Amino acid sequence: MKSKSFFKKNILWFILAAAVLVILAVIAVLIFYPSSNSDRIDPNVELGIPSTGISELAAEKEAERLAEEERKAAEEEAERQAAEEEARKKAEEEEKAKAEAEREEEEKREKYGETYEEYSQCMEKVRELEKTLSSDPSAWNMILCNPTHPLPDDYIDGVELSSIYGRFQVDSRIYYNVRAMFLAAEMDGVNLSMVSAFRDVDLQTRNFNNKKNYYIGLGYSEEDAYAKTATIIAVPGTSEHHTGLALDILTPSYTSLTAGFDQTKAYAWLVEHCAEYGFILRYAKDKTDITKIIYEPWHYRFVGIENAKKIMASGLSYEEYLGVLD
Ligand code: DAL
Ligand code: ZN
Repeated sequence: MKSKSFFKKNILWFILAAAVLVILAVIAVLIFYPSSNSDRIDPNVELGIPSTGISELAAEKEAERLAEEERKAAEEEAERQAAEEEARKKAEEEEKAKAEAEREEEEKREKYGETYEEYSQCMEKVRELEKTLSSDPSAWNMILCNPTHPLPDDYIDGVELSSIYGRFQVDSRIYYNVRAMFLAAEMDGVNLSMVSAFRDVDLQTRNFNNKKNYYIGLGYSEEDAYAKTATIIAVPGTSEHHTGLALDILTPSYTSLTAGFDQTKAYAWLVEHCAEYGFILRYAKDKTDITKIIYEPWHYRFVGIENAKKIMASGLSYEEYLGVLD
């Protein structure tokens, strides 16, 4: 009873004391307990690194970040300026080249008169045709005709031929390319002579048999004579001349279809310029194993300007370029 009344009598004091303790505890927590987890643990201390103070670290990082940003911005600005300078130089060079080309054109016009006029008109047609051409192996200008890829028998039925330089004929679509090439050579002081263009299978057969008989006359067996001839005159049905897209070209000072043609000014001009008119040198000296045809510095085949430039620059045979080596 006594303890109960003691408790009753002092209850207010107990409540007051408890309230004071709670208030003190709250104050202590507010003072000593840090506001965030990251502040509570200094990672440097945990890692054994002398602490520099959290705010100092953050300030250092911020300064680094700003310095990095500035460095990047300066780099980007320098790159932008360099690109601008490059573009300016390129535009200047293009402008110069254009002016030079126009000056050369004007000179040629004055010097060559009608020849230049005709050349210009041909080149307009050449550019028109070029826009229609494709690099797809199935395109007419890309047709592969070689010992393992004979032309379809009726191929020429779908081709219109045009006469050029008297007795020769070419696929009408390339008439202006041929003409432009010959006129350009003429204006550069180079005389080209057409020796052969379109040949039908009958003519090819006659040429083939004549050559084969020549070798038989030299003592070759029929089989050997055939094989030897096939490297010089394509087996009838497999000649590019059947397409109307191939030309044999020599020069008045060198009129035989022999490798020595490559010592002439005409050959040097052809190799340098044929692609500008859509032609490639078809049977190169170092590709006879692939083409199965002897070196023919006189034989040029039309494929279109863009294709010809790529092929001539690649140094590949047409078979290699097309990836057809069977
Ligand atoms: N001389 C080439 C290979 C031809 O006859 O087509
Ligand atoms: Zn030829």
